[in-house]
Amino acid sequence: ILRRSYNTKALKHSQRSYSYIQPHASYKVAILGAGGGIGQPLALLVKMSPLVSALNLYDIANVKGVAADLSHCNTPAQVSDFTGASELANCLKGVNVVVIPAGVPRKPGMTRDDLFNINANIVKTLVEAVADNCPDAFIHVISNPVNSTVPIAAEVLKNKGVYDPKKLFGVTTLDVVRANTFVAQKKNLKLIDVDVPVVGGHAGITILPLLSKTNPSVAFTDEEVQELTVRIQNAGTEVVEAKAGAGSATLSMAYAAARFLGRNGVEAVISSELQGLTEFEQKALEALKPELKASIEKGVAFVQKQT
Ligand code: NAD
Ligand code: LMR
Repeated sequence: ILRRSYNTKALKHSQRSYSYIQPHASYKVAILGAGGGIGQPLALLVKMSPLVSALNLYDIANVKGVAADLSHCNTPAQVSDFTGASELANCLKGVNVVVIPAGVPRKPGMTRDDLFNINANIVKTLVEAVADNCPDAFIHVISNPVNSTVPIAAEVLKNKGVYDPKKLFGVTTLDVVRANTFVAQKKNLKLIDVDVPVVGGHAGITILPLLSKTNPSVAFTDEEVQELTVRIQNAGTEVVEAKAGAGSATLSMAYAAARFLGRNGVEAVISSELQGLTEFEQKALEALKPELKASIEKGVAFVQKQT
């Protein structure tokens, strides 16, 4: 159906059936940090969505050319560019979904938390503008350290009186994408069928794949669980080292973020995932809590000390 909606021959032959099958392009999406390594391929993937009517690209530099380039793709979304703080409010007016990949990425030897000093302020400023201009929008935070930038966003929204926990997300789908890929490779499964839940946060040991809950059910040896868990937790670092100073994951991240865009926000909190864990998973869950809690508190304190 999606292919047909872009098929101009089919369009010319049957305008009536076209209007029947065409998905309704009604979502307005803004990408903040759209000129960057994630922003550009993510903008392309969003531009390919038949559900999107407007795609607003914001960055502090280099976004005009990206928008001109993308605007030539024959898909419904109208692409507009916005450069610099003075154009941020206009970028956000009337937007339904805001995705934030703005900020600096890691270099080899750095932790995600090492990015806090720069990215905390970037995320705070951008979310303040979201609260002022499109307070009902879904907000997807990609900028690291996600374990702290999401609490920063939550505090900003609370201070502005517009916090809806169902509409604020830290985008950690890349961990799920990686877990699905690595498990399928290891167990020689068809990728399309594999689904591994991942809980916790998005840094080191706070990333906890629940391999025992892999769907379809798969048996792992203790060694496989250990090896896969560590690989999934360190996959970001794997990319940072391979890029050798030129940044972190961008293409797989854009893919994961595009996959993440849902319709209604958080539909359910599935706490049953945390029941019936293996001993390995239960221990890992307890071990991650202090680090995750500290990262959350660091984000909250960052906003509170400025208000
Ligand atoms: P990048 O440097 O290629 O791009 C970042 C973009 O942000 C640049 O275009 C830059 O101009 C822009 N920017 C900087 N300050 C800004 C501001 N105040 N307002 C608007 N835009 C601004 O980096 P990247 O590879 O795209 O990574 C971006 C962020 O995403 C990093 O913090 C990285 O750690 C994070 N990341 C998160 C995940 C995840 O799973 N959540 C995965 C990969 C990367
Ligand atoms: C990732 O998991 O790839 C991102 O969080 C980027 C990084 O710094 O590892």
